[in-house]
Amino acid sequence: MIIALGSDHGAFELKNIIIEHLQQKGIKTIDCGTNSVDSCDYSDYAQKVCALVNNGEATLGILVCGTGIGMSMAANKIAGIRCALCGDVFSAKATRSHNDANVLALGARVVGVGLALEIVDAYLGTPFSGEQRHARRIEKVMKLETNKSLQ
Ligand code: RB5
Repeated sequence: MIIALGSDHGAFELKNIIIEHLQQKGIKTIDCGTNSVDSCDYSDYAQKVCALVNNGEATLGILVCGTGIGMSMAANKIAGIRCALCGDVFSAKATRSHNDANVLALGARVVGVGLALEIVDAYLGTPFSGEQRHARRIEKVMKLETNKSLQ
């Protein structure tokens, strides 16, 4: 499993903590930046992480900004990406199991470090259920990218 991570300045510290946490578990990481607390634009880092998820270099992506909202909005504009903003462990598990979310977004100013790491572990530790009803719903969601409804 290879995880691509990106943050803006507001979540630079949390990104680094998550990277260290994953590396300690033997999980490979790709750090897409940002590399300092200098002000930057979250969408640039959402783009970098999502490109790696879409081209297969990364298994999954993790995006962190102050709220997680800007990152998730930007990521979900990119074709192929299903980004879930999570603030609790239940949602992190459910979004892998039901939505097969390929990117997780977190708000560094919303969740504490302990909860953030629990969310990350729950997200990475849960597979897609593969259940037909969830696969059908995901297919319908992805068709919305091209305005081709399956209804
Ligand atoms: C940066 O100040 C902040 O707007 C950003 O981290 C994020 O919360 C945007 O959604």
